[in-house]
Amino acid sequence: MTDMGLMSRKAVADIIAEGEQHALSKALGPLSITALGIGCIIGAGIFVLTGTAAANYAGPSIMLSFVVGGIACAFVGLCYSELAALLPVSGSTYTYTYATLGELVAWIIGWDLVLEYAMGASTVAVGWSSYIVSLLRNFGISFPPAYAAAPHTVFKMPDGSTVEGIVNLPAALIILLLTALLIGGTKESARLNNIMVAVKLVVVLAFIGLGAHYLHTANWHPFIPANTGEFGHFGWTGIMRGASVVFFAFIGFDAVSTAAQEAKNPQTDMPVGILGSLFICTILYVAVSAVLTGLVPYTELVGVSDPIAKAVDTIGLTWFSILIKIGALAGLTTVILVLLYGQSRIFFQIAKDGLLPPAFSRVHERLGTPHLSLGLIGVIVAIVSALTPIDVLGEMVSIGTLFAFVLVCGAVIYLRKSDAEVARPFRTPAVPWVPVLGALFSLALMVFLPWETWLRLIVWLAIGLVLYFVYGKNHSVLRNGPPK
Ligand code: ALA
Repeated sequence: MTDMGLMSRKAVADIIAEGEQHALSKALGPLSITALGIGCIIGAGIFVLTGTAAANYAGPSIMLSFVVGGIACAFVGLCYSELAALLPVSGSTYTYTYATLGELVAWIIGWDLVLEYAMGASTVAVGWSSYIVSLLRNFGISFPPAYAAAPHTVFKMPDGSTVEGIVNLPAALIILLLTALLIGGTKESARLNNIMVAVKLVVVLAFIGLGAHYLHTANWHPFIPANTGEFGHFGWTGIMRGASVVFFAFIGFDAVSTAAQEAKNPQTDMPVGILGSLFICTILYVAVSAVLTGLVPYTELVGVSDPIAKAVDTIGLTWFSILIKIGALAGLTTVILVLLYGQSRIFFQIAKDGLLPPAFSRVHERLGTPHLSLGLIGVIVAIVSALTPIDVLGEMVSIGTLFAFVLVCGAVIYLRKSDAEVARPFRTPAVPWVPVLGALFSLALMVFLPWETWLRLIVWLAIGLVLYFVYGKNHSVLRNGPPK
């Protein structure tokens, strides 16, 4: 430790030693790691948010929004690769910050990661709900729509009528179900993950391949609809606003960093896994958004929460629509699982450091899972999913994740100076330029999010600050030693 104040840092050597105590088998090669990345990346972003982002902000130029998002993530991905190979322990950004900016900022970022992981799971669950209701409709089962949407959300039914939501029951149910699975010790094996990734990829590729035959290219004109006079509503600012919303679709590549300890060759496997999954997903996203806006005029995507299914419905192939929905549901399920699991891993690490109550790091003797932590997370996430509209959730997740990205980029530059001598299995090229560009792109995407989202972020971080001074500061293992 380097300082006893609020800036107390964990020494890099201590973190590496901690990681070595829990040596995991080095079983993952570049292919499995790339599959892991794609497994957590493709989800609600492409299956749900693309529609509303095109309808409200960018029109067909949502394709460019995806390019901007992909470039921003590539810079940040290079920084993650260096840190994941340098500090291969659970905790991700929280751990990197503990080694750089010290305890207080690490706690704040750990608290901020709740937005990415727990709120991310809520967002994807809301998307899951839309797709299951839509699938049930294919089988003639009509789930009461008001009970599949958050209160006060008004949305369009296939017959053109509008309905106001009361509570999103399917979203809450899938969260509770997957929480129960995780508590029960159900581990996603690499094989299961690979199968799910394959299903997702087949569905996405089939949508692109089949949809391309039915395009109405007139729907792409104007490619960049004129700005309405309001900042972020079409025109160039709309592309940027669209990018900040669909940025959600890229989240997950950073979760690859948590597998660094299990990589056969972190030097090459981390950058290949992180950048490879990002590259493949960016290409797929641009293609999907091209087909989507080519099949359905973007103006008809307002308030549509299952846009890919709607696009397929316009082709009139019912069997294909059913297949798409099943694929989307499988894909969304794995993303929720990974996010809930990731959240419990991060709380586990924070609780071990004493900044959260020990209950969060307690492991069930027989099941071998952090049952209390998972249970609490599951219940809260279920309640949030039941009551909050998806666009509010998605924007919160994006701003929280982008904030973490800025710190990751800063951490690369900081550690190059503070711990220059430590061996780095992978080095981010062109430091400080790549981290600076990663941070600037992330900040730019944050700027384009609505001011209400900023306000929510500030309130959220303020709550975190209060928790630190009420609990964490007095229980920190680094500052006070292990609990007596
Ligand atoms: N990127 C993930 C998704 O789109 C979180 O669902």
